[in-house]
Amino acid sequence: MAMVCLSDFEAYAKKYLPKIAWDFFAAGADDCSTRDENILAYKRIRFRPRILRDVSMMDIRTKLLGAEISFPVGIAPTGFHQLAWPDGEKSTARAAKAMNICYIASTYSTCTLEEISAAAPGSLQWFQLYIHRNRAVSQQLVQRAEALGFQGLVLTADLPYTGKRRDDVRNGFRLPPHMKLKNLEGAFEVCKMSPLDPSVTWNDIYWLRSLTHLPIIIKGILTKEDAELAVRHGVQGIIVSNHGGRQLDGGPATIDALVEVVEAVQGRVEVYLDGGIRKGSDVLKALALGAKCVFIGRPALWGLAYKGEEGLQDVLRILQDEFRLSMALAG
Ligand code: FNR
Repeated sequence: MAMVCLSDFEAYAKKYLPKIAWDFFAAGADDCSTRDENILAYKRIRFRPRILRDVSMMDIRTKLLGAEISFPVGIAPTGFHQLAWPDGEKSTARAAKAMNICYIASTYSTCTLEEISAAAPGSLQWFQLYIHRNRAVSQQLVQRAEALGFQGLVLTADLPYTGKRRDDVRNGFRLPPHMKLKNLEGAFEVCKMSPLDPSVTWNDIYWLRSLTHLPIIIKGILTKEDAELAVRHGVQGIIVSNHGGRQLDGGPATIDALVEVVEAVQGRVEVYLDGGIRKGSDVLKALALGAKCVFIGRPALWGLAYKGEEGLQDVLRILQDEFRLSMALAG
């Protein structure tokens, strides 16, 4: 099968992954209207292409908080990569390093932070945090990530509770017994309710600030009001995100929310986006509307499911080629 575009990897993953894993990756909340809107919204946005602008030489590199990457796409944090490929997040880390892009490793990784960092020494890695009720667990994770050389702390702020993903409920989804949330081993044992803290507020940004020197990037912002609060609380970056439509169903597509966030921020911090990026032209649209970089969630999992780190590199190379081509064709 020729792998030409990201949908080819999606079709492969759907065909070959166990149903319970495919359903978990694909899930959106409720009737998935926000998940689907993330993708539909790109189709409504049209370019105003310019011609005769000498596109024989193009530089698609950029910088994330000062660190150079080969093109403006990174890997969004997603959990449980071993459901897609046996080496899990180690493969993800290697692919991101080979492509010289940023990988945001999830709290819910099936490899340890130590393994992820050792798999791709010297590469650009950020660590994604969910704040736990047991603050000592979160504090220890942040400090471990910093000591290992992770270069950014991404606080995911849109998950006080987990959204209702119907297929996961129907399937009784849980990790197979041989896979572990390796960074949290032991941390859940005494905890019968959800271990995540739903009482988190803006003040907790100050708490995080007191724990680490890493830049803090807040993920899950969709409004100008929250963008302004994020800047005022001293974060260094914002990821406009609706968690791939897995949390609140009925919110906007991220590409539609991006505009008001960029306008509110006025260049004071870097603004990124995730959700629904499936083509190089989607990347260009997000950049044209003010994002510095975008991140992919599900497409990275499809690449892993296809052929581990090689498959993920294929996905990234296709996006890179399509992005370069769109830039040239848009002048
Ligand atoms: C996620 N997402 C996510 N976000 C996060 O901050 N921590 C996490 O552990 C996870 N886990 C996770 C698992 C799976 C299977 C999916 C699909 C998503 C959300 C993720 O970072 C990102 O916001 C979306 O995936 C982006 O949308 P696309 O690219 O999947 O359309």
